[in-house]
Amino acid sequence: MTRDRPVVAVYPGSFDPITKGHEDVVRRSLRLADRVVIAVAHTATQEKGSLFSVEQRLALLEEVFQGEERIECRSFRGLLVDLAREVEARFVIRGLRAVSDFEYEFQMAQMNRELWSGVETVFLTPDQKYSFLSASLVREVARLGGDISRFVPEPVLREMEALFRE
Ligand code: PNS
Repeated sequence: MTRDRPVVAVYPGSFDPITKGHEDVVRRSLRLADRVVIAVAHTATQEKGSLFSVEQRLALLEEVFQGEERIECRSFRGLLVDLAREVEARFVIRGLRAVSDFEYEFQMAQMNRELWSGVETVFLTPDQKYSFLSASLVREVARLGGDISRFVPEPVLREMEALFRE
């Protein structure tokens, strides 16, 4: 494999909000790539039922990874493969927590390959202690007054506590 340019990975998702599971996957992906672009997707369906706006999610990601020179946070519209091409990504990172994630992830990876074969999808598993964790469960637990401090990075906890205090 030639290393004439830095290896860039894109880690796309909704990140509503970023959880400790996502954070763990990002830190693992830094072992594979020189630079990781965390990309928050703008999609109409996701935005309707979302907790945080894309701008808020991005601000939280930036706070969580501040000082990490190899990490860039941004949002994107349209196809993931177009973003991957734009940032010259060698691969797309997706987290796989359990077999139940596999079918959807496999379908997306295959579709992305059909759309553009220039990027590979790499699946990373988070630490076992986060294998049950999802942003949707975190939102539900927080809405119902449960303790989410073990599941989300500190800036997210602060914002969610503020949101649900209102
Ligand atoms: O965190 P999520 O909601 O599982 O992330 C899904 C995401 C954003 C990665 C996926 O919906 C996506 O790639 N959206 C961009 C639009 C696109 O390229 N769709 C075709 C993918 S097969």
